[in-house]
Amino acid sequence: MNDDGSHSLEISQMRKSFGPNQVLKGIDLTVGKGEFVGLMGPNGAGKSTLIKILAGVYEASSGTIRLGGSAVRSLADSPDVGFIHQDLGLVDWLSIVENLSLGTPPKRLFGPILNKRAEREEARRALNRVGLKLPVDMLVGDLTPGEKTLVAVARVFDRGAKILVIDETTSTLPPAEANRVIRSLSAAAESGATVIMVTHKLSEILDASNRVLVLIDGELVHDTPTRGLDRASLVRMLMQHEAAGPGADSLAAGRSAGEGIIELRDVWLGKLGPVNLRLNAEEVVGLSGLPGSGLHDIAFAVNGNLAPDSGEVIPLRPGLKRALVPPHRESQGGFSTLTVRENMSVSALPRWRRIGRLIDPRRERSECADIAGELSVKPRSIDTPFDVLSGGNKQKVIFGRALLRQPDVFVLCEPTRGVDVQTRSEIYRLIRELTAKGAAVLVASSDAEDLFSVCDRVALVEDGRLQPLRHVSELTASELELMV
Ligand SMILES: Nc1ncnc2c1ncn2[C@@H]1O[C@H](COP(=O)(O)OP(=O)(O)O)[C@@H](O)[C@H]1O
Ligand SMILES: [Mg+2]
Repeated sequence: MNDDGSHSLEISQMRKSFGPNQVLKGIDLTVGKGEFVGLMGPNGAGKSTLIKILAGVYEASSGTIRLGGSAVRSLADSPDVGFIHQDLGLVDWLSIVENLSLGTPPKRLFGPILNKRAEREEARRALNRVGLKLPVDMLVGDLTPGEKTLVAVARVFDRGAKILVIDETTSTLPPAEANRVIRSLSAAAESGATVIMVTHKLSEILDASNRVLVLIDGELVHDTPTRGLDRASLVRMLMQHEAAGPGADSLAAGRSAGEGIIELRDVWLGKLGPVNLRLNAEEVVGLSGLPGSGLHDIAFAVNGNLAPDSGEVIPLRPGLKRALVPPHRESQGGFSTLTVRENMSVSALPRWRRIGRLIDPRRERSECADIAGELSVKPRSIDTPFDVLSGGNKQKVIFGRALLRQPDVFVLCEPTRGVDVQTRSEIYRLIRELTAKGAAVLVASSDAEDLFSVCDRVALVEDGRLQPLRHVSELTASELELMV
């Protein structure tokens, strides 16, 4: 067998059902050495399911997997294949070096004496490969999300993987950190590794991949070389069931704002300040900034989660209600042991109170189901455990929770992080509906497209300072691009 065949991956007629839900409907796919394959598709399309079958987490209902020509049940036992799942699989309370050596045979000097020095040396080399300069004794829990991802990448390389399978690990990272991860994956592909990466980010696909797969409703509907594609053609491939793309969502330009709803006056908070900001009804204000700029602290201050060190947060309406979509939905958002319905209704329960403390369960159900339907949460049933939802669908449920509260002010941190192209345009449409109904919306996002697409006024947060707000309609696209 030649070297090229030795780690080619062939999948044929792979099917998978969860109960009555047919999630993969006969996938055929061959991936050769050195390919960088981008796997895209709407939330709930079956991408993670496919990858979990390859990883041996789930068993396919039928179909075959071949690695280097031999039939295998999964790729889990092959030293040539490494997986990085959405939840990275790192242990926060262990150090980097301990995480890197987890599950590998310990290095021994002789007999039972471990060679700690060799382990640390190797850990340093592994970090170097992915461009991380951190002490190997640092606890993984103290790393930024991007650094954690790079440690997970380093661990996979360190074990000699020649095929890397990465499920949406970049979608929750700030752009600069995502770029670091993509760069180290590209470098691996250039030196002969095979990379299969799930992402919703068009720019990552266009920059890094040489082949794009699109999975929709459990079927591979596109398999094309990346060369020759641009953003518009990719969006068309992804939205083949949808008439209008995000491009059709034009700016809400020229609308005038309503009355003031809430105001930050001379707010100082940690390294943030002074911040003066007034949010008005019927208006979307968009703030952007680098991680650590204080961007999300402004959002938390508006929502009342963080009290300012000095200055005031002044509600301009009696009984003002606020709702927050937090930036890290995995850790700050959902309750994994509850259902979709429970996750949505948790902060709106008083609305369905009939007499005393009794909740009207029928109204609760029907309102949750309406919102889940409007957001096209998949699977359809609101009794689904939150746990089994894909990342993008989790985001929709957290969004649904904010909607159910019917607040005067929506504070949306990274509202489109990790969602697919179609959900993104649904979320933009929803945000515009909210303001049409009189709400004030604050979007705090590191994604330029969020500012372009829904905001009326935008500003940068730089080193704790809020720059002056400007109307989006006054900015040119390139000025806006420069802002992020
Ligand atoms: N363990 C599970 N039990 C039941 N349904 C599941 C399970 N895992 C995934 N699903 C369902 O399979 C479908 C595809 O999910 P997933 O593969 O996570 O989508 P993607 O990664 O493309 O967003 C969804 O409808 C999801 O709810
Ligand atoms: Mg997924």
